[in-house]
Amino acid sequence: MQKLDRKLSGKDPAEIPDPVYDRIRQILKTLAGFQLHGYKNACIKRRISARIRSVGCASAREYQEFLLQNRSEPAELVKTLTIHVSKFFRNPTTFSMLRDEVLPALFSRCIEEGRESLDIRSLGCASGEEPYTMAMILRDSFTQEMTRVPVSINATDIDPEVLRVAAEASYDQDRMDETPAAIRERFFTWQGNSYRLVPEIRNMVSFHYHDMLRPTPLEACDLILCRNVLIYFERGHQEALLKRFAESLRSGGFLVLGKTETLLGEVRDRYQTLCPVERIYRKK
Ligand SMILES: C[S@@+](CC[C@H](N)C(=O)[O-])C[C@H]1O[C@@H](n2cnc3c(N)ncnc32)[C@H](O)[C@@H]1O
Repeated sequence: MQKLDRKLSGKDPAEIPDPVYDRIRQILKTLAGFQLHGYKNACIKRRISARIRSVGCASAREYQEFLLQNRSEPAELVKTLTIHVSKFFRNPTTFSMLRDEVLPALFSRCIEEGRESLDIRSLGCASGEEPYTMAMILRDSFTQEMTRVPVSINATDIDPEVLRVAAEASYDQDRMDETPAAIRERFFTWQGNSYRLVPEIRNMVSFHYHDMLRPTPLEACDLILCRNVLIYFERGHQEALLKRFAESLRSGGFLVLGKTETLLGEVRDRYQTLCPVERIYRKK
């Protein structure tokens, strides 16, 4: 019926006029500490419109009031805006290349240089599937190497709710589709209606809140996984972030982007492409 009304009036009730959009941005910043600056406007507006429809508001202006009056709504809207789709072993061929080429190269380099740790970052880690996948690969295939060079895996996200889920480490079946059976049997226990990661893997990853759009420098590291996050940012911010990644990666370190993301701007000169299909780049 709503769709029919929209067709007749020619206007989508969830369409967001600019002044209302600006007000929603301010409210989110004040009540949820979430800044929309840096995200692609079209993408954000689409998601706010979806939220307007799902809570049943008749207009964007009505939703603006709803956002102010309902204490839980700012956090709910942040959840809608920060898409959290992820899986263990998402894009399995990327993880195969990390296991077969990237990690051996990094361990060799650390051993040659007498380094005390190999540092991995997962930025925009959602509920932990990506950094935990790295931890399982390390535990499964690099036990020997880790006795010589300890590995630290530091994972960050902007959404406190997904970080809470990551710390809990219980997952539904849909997150497990790509996980090899042997890995699932070794590192998960079935707890009635979900898969729980064993402490041996949970303890390998530390999770922290971090907003990538804030221009704070990143600590030095050897491998950055930042997959399926840059796509949501405006081009200028994507370029600035890629530059910060190049600054924090040690020489010979690797950057992994999502399958639809790529290096942009001047920063391209600072990397060699290891594999264009898997979006794996090596810092020169
Ligand atoms: C689509 S998920 C990607 C998860 C994982 N990297 C993967 O590829 O499976 C995008 C994640 O980026 C996070 N994110 C969005 N904006 C962010 C920001 N400004 N700083 C840090 N994380 C952000 C979201 O909360 C979400 O968990």
